[in-house]
Amino acid sequence: MWQHFFRNPRKNYNPYMEKLKDHPEYIIYDKEIMNSYKGKWNEYFKNDNPIYLEIGSGNGNFAVRNSEKNRDINHMAVELRFKRLVISAEKAQKRDLKNVVFFRRRGEQITDFIGENEITGMYINFPDPWEGKEKNRILQPNLFSNIDKIMGKGGKLFFKTDHYGYYCDVLEFMAGVDGYEVVYNTDDLYNSPKLENNISTEFEDLFVIKRSMKINYIEIEKKN
Ligand SMILES: C[S@@+](CC[C@H](N)C(=O)[O-])C[C@H]1O[C@@H](n2cnc3c(N)ncnc32)[C@H](O)[C@@H]1O
Repeated sequence: MWQHFFRNPRKNYNPYMEKLKDHPEYIIYDKEIMNSYKGKWNEYFKNDNPIYLEIGSGNGNFAVRNSEKNRDINHMAVELRFKRLVISAEKAQKRDLKNVVFFRRRGEQITDFIGENEITGMYINFPDPWEGKEKNRILQPNLFSNIDKIMGKGGKLFFKTDHYGYYCDVLEFMAGVDGYEVVYNTDDLYNSPKLENNISTEFEDLFVIKRSMKINYIEIEKKN
């Protein structure tokens, strides 16, 4: 698809598709290249540091802030939208970060390009709650069969949402997900001890600063 597009660009394509090419050190959009690193992402980063995966990274504020604050981890971020990927890469480039990479990929496809036990943790920040079409949500019980393949024992999933219903649904279905346990949850992150180490996202800043909304937060640990 990409080779076809870059050889025969058409006017009605999203202009940010072309711009993905300007950031080869921060954006991987070619599925074959992505898949070829499956099980070898530490070679890609040229270190043995733990790898964290973010699904739906938006404009990249969280990815950039997390990788800047924690230089001893590698941050891989999956996002669908071209413009958001380009904006994210620009932010990473400005800070000359070496421990972050953005993928143009669906979060549902993580096992295609991430190997067994390859990641130590995962972030899902403010995913679409899909009100009325909840089956489309990214975080739902069936995602755990994929998470199980790529996350090592003791690994954690960190989930934030402004949507109280989504928060309650996750707490409810987690009781039936074997091998995983909710180890922390709050419906008011900004009045909890977890605030101290919290790294905000662009949606979060909007919800908290402009709308004074409460943020719901869950940590889920892989037990075996
Ligand atoms: C509501 S935004 C939140 C962005 C960011 N996490 C934040 O908190 O500011 C959700 C993001 O997830 C992306 N997204 C939606 N479905 C996705 C999927 N299946 N795989 C990867 N990204 C997805 C969207 O393009 C969007 O940028």
